[in-house]
Amino acid sequence: MTPSTQAMPRYQSGFGNEFASEALAGALPAQQNSPQRVAYGLYAEQLSGTAFTAPRSHNRRSWLYRIRPAAVHRPFVRIDDGAIVSNFEQAAASPNQLRWDRLPLPAAPTDFIDGWVTMAGNGAPQAQCGNAFHLYACNRDMAGRYFYNADGELLIVPQEGRLHIATELGHIELAPLEIAVIPRGVRFQVTLPDGVARGYVCENYGALLRLPDLGVIGSNGLANPRDFLTPHAAYEDLEGDFTLVAKFNGKLWAAPIGHSPLDVVAWHGNYAPYKYDLRRFSPVGSIGVDHPDPSIFLVLHSPSDTPGVDTLDFVVFPPRWLVAEHTFRPPWFHRNVASEFMGLITGVYDAKQGGFVPGGSSLHNCMSGHGPDAATFAKASAADTSVPHKIDHTMAFMFETRLPICPTAWALASPLLQHDYSSCWSGIVKQFNPLQA
Ligand SMILES: [Fe+2]
Repeated sequence: MTPSTQAMPRYQSGFGNEFASEALAGALPAQQNSPQRVAYGLYAEQLSGTAFTAPRSHNRRSWLYRIRPAAVHRPFVRIDDGAIVSNFEQAAASPNQLRWDRLPLPAAPTDFIDGWVTMAGNGAPQAQCGNAFHLYACNRDMAGRYFYNADGELLIVPQEGRLHIATELGHIELAPLEIAVIPRGVRFQVTLPDGVARGYVCENYGALLRLPDLGVIGSNGLANPRDFLTPHAAYEDLEGDFTLVAKFNGKLWAAPIGHSPLDVVAWHGNYAPYKYDLRRFSPVGSIGVDHPDPSIFLVLHSPSDTPGVDTLDFVVFPPRWLVAEHTFRPPWFHRNVASEFMGLITGVYDAKQGGFVPGGSSLHNCMSGHGPDAATFAKASAADTSVPHKIDHTMAFMFETRLPICPTAWALASPLLQHDYSSCWSGIVKQFNPLQA
């Protein structure tokens, strides 16, 4: 067990707040950001997650007071990218509906970073637009290795096994049914309290994820700011032969470093990692007839330059009551301008009776028809809608994007690909009869 796993995480509540935390009393400067001398011989360093001149409401930066500046390490050299892809071949995008089984846990020792495989994505880090959707499966702590991603923030969705994420700004204990966001550039190390872990990582090249406006819903509901938790400062004072791995412009690099980069003793600011328990989501839905668009389940989004059109929507389908009368209650048949990459954390997704397994993935690209499978359609069409129905013990999610999603060569060649997926609609028969209304 590395020292980083021994700290008990503590959290500050709120989304994008101006947080302040110190692991040693008096480490935070009383007034200035960058005083001439910092207490305890610490160095002051600013970490900016948005342009210096971004509007104040979206400006994100934190001041770190650390044992050594982040600049102190040996030069980076290129290392093998493994199964990580950041530049997506447009030709691989397809209108076919695609679905995959879950990624097996590895047999060989594999840490969190080595355990990534990229399934699909769009855009590019250099364009500051788009996303990559990775799976991870690992069975080993990141021993002596630290990582940061210069290409985008990371939205981590565990499906099996807890992650202990020791970051520069504090520690996050993350379990399935929770998510974490690690901001671009923040250095971290993942250890595995359960020995193994599996899940999803969305890499967001666009604007930082934020809470959506609620419009006529009002000031409460969906994901509430108070449920987002940011860690308190926690630091390591370790020296040794370590490695700092960076993902920069789509490629992996590694630098020798003689100390732990998780050496921030105190910090203040609004650019910090956070976690959120998806079970805290307050769903809003129909209490009469019909049901709203799936945007009603939006947790976080990355807006684009076009109002109302997002680079990324992160949407969940949590346990909830279905009460709409005279209504086809599951997700309807639909096509839309967005492209959708879905995952399942636990249980059964209400649009599919089978085949979409926890840890699995599906891809429905722009304007590709999809919706309930034949069995779900038959069951929901005959359901008694005069009584409420509880969808329980489930948590599906969706990464929805404005750009078409391109699967990787690995995903298309993988034995995980379900070649018969589209047959789930083959049982939908013609029931049209012009003589019977
Ligand atoms: Fe859809």
